[in-house]
Amino acid sequence: MKPILSDLLQCPVTRGELHKADDNHITAVGGPAYPVIDGVNCFLPETLRAQGREDDASQSIRDFYQTDGWEVGDDGLYGDSRAFLDSRPIARNFEGHCIERLGRYFAKGGKYILDAGSGPIPHKQLLPYSDAFEKRVCVDLSVQGLRAAREKLGDRGVYLQADITQLPIRDNSVDAITCNHVLYQIPEQMQKDAFLELWRVLKPGGIAVIVYWWPNPSLPRLLGRTAKAMRILTGMRGVPPNADGKWPELYHAPHSPAWLKAQAFPFSYKLDAMRIMTDAFIRDHLSEDWRGHSFIAGVKALQRIAPGYCGRNGQMPAIIIRKE
Ligand SMILES: C[S@@+](CC[C@H](N)C(=O)[O-])C[C@H]1O[C@@H](n2cnc3c(N)ncnc32)[C@H](O)[C@@H]1O
Repeated sequence: MKPILSDLLQCPVTRGELHKADDNHITAVGGPAYPVIDGVNCFLPETLRAQGREDDASQSIRDFYQTDGWEVGDDGLYGDSRAFLDSRPIARNFEGHCIERLGRYFAKGGKYILDAGSGPIPHKQLLPYSDAFEKRVCVDLSVQGLRAAREKLGDRGVYLQADITQLPIRDNSVDAITCNHVLYQIPEQMQKDAFLELWRVLKPGGIAVIVYWWPNPSLPRLLGRTAKAMRILTGMRGVPPNADGKWPELYHAPHSPAWLKAQAFPFSYKLDAMRIMTDAFIRDHLSEDWRGHSFIAGVKALQRIAPGYCGRNGQMPAIIIRKE
C-alpha cells in the first residue's frame, strides 16, 4: 500500500507510515485506524487515549472549541470572538495590524507551513501567512474549526485533528510554524513538551513564530496609567463588555518569561511583540475617535521601534525560534 503524504505525516502512536485503509480511514501497520471526516484526519481521540489524557485539565478547551467556540452566531461572529474580543473597528484594525506585522517571518516560503491550533483561521489577515507555501497544515483539537478552515483553503490545506503535544507529523518536515494563542491553553506541565514537539517537526533552516501570553506584564499597567490620565484630561472612555457574550471558564495557564528562559530547550529564541495590550484593555479604556486612535498610533510606534522590549514586557509576545 502506498503511504499518504510520506514526507509529512506519521502515526502519532507508532510513528510509522500512514496508509489509506478505505475511503473513510487511514491506518498505520500495528496502529489504530483513524477516521477521516469531511476531509479532516481525526487522530485526537486515539492519541488522548494512548496518553491517558481524556479528562485532563484542558477538557474545558476541547469542550468549548468543539461546540460554541467556533460556531458562527446570528451576528456573524464566532463564539470565541464574541466572548473575548472587542468588535469595534478600533480594536479589529489594531489586531489586523499586529497580525500583518508578523507575516514578514513567513515571506521565504517553502513546501509546508504548520498552523498549530489553527481553529477556522478566524482572522482574514492570518490567511496570507501561507501564500508562499504549497500547503498549510492545519492542526487543531476541533473538527468544527478545521472544517471551517477547509472551507477557506480547500486543497491548499491539510487538516489534522490532533494534539500539539503529540503531532502526527514527521521530524524535520515543515518549513515554518505559526502558532497563535494556543500553547498557554495546554496543561501547564505539558507546555514544555509542546515547544519541543514544534521544534521536532520544524525543518533545519525553518522558523517558528509562537504567540504566547505573559501572566503579569508591566507594559499594560503602564499603558493603563496613561489611559487613565487621558480619561481625566480628555474624558476618553471605553465601552462596557458585550452583554450577549458568554465568558466561559477556559483553562489558561501562561508561564512567565523566567520560566521560558529556565527551560533546557535545544534552541534559543528571540522575542518580538505580537501586541502589548489585549482587546479587554481597548474595550475598557479607548474610545472610537481621535483620542483612541492617537493612543493606538503610539502603541503601534512603540511596538515598531522597540519590538524586543515590547515582547518581554507586553501582554502577548511572539517567540521566534529558528532551527539552524
Ligand atoms: C484561542 S484559539 C486560537 C485560534 C487561532 N490560532 C487564532 O490565532 O485565532 C485556540 C485554538 O487552539 C486549539 N487548541 C488548544 N489546545 C490545543 C492542543 N493541545 N492541540 C491542538 N489544538 C489546540 C483550540 O481548539 C483553538 O482552536
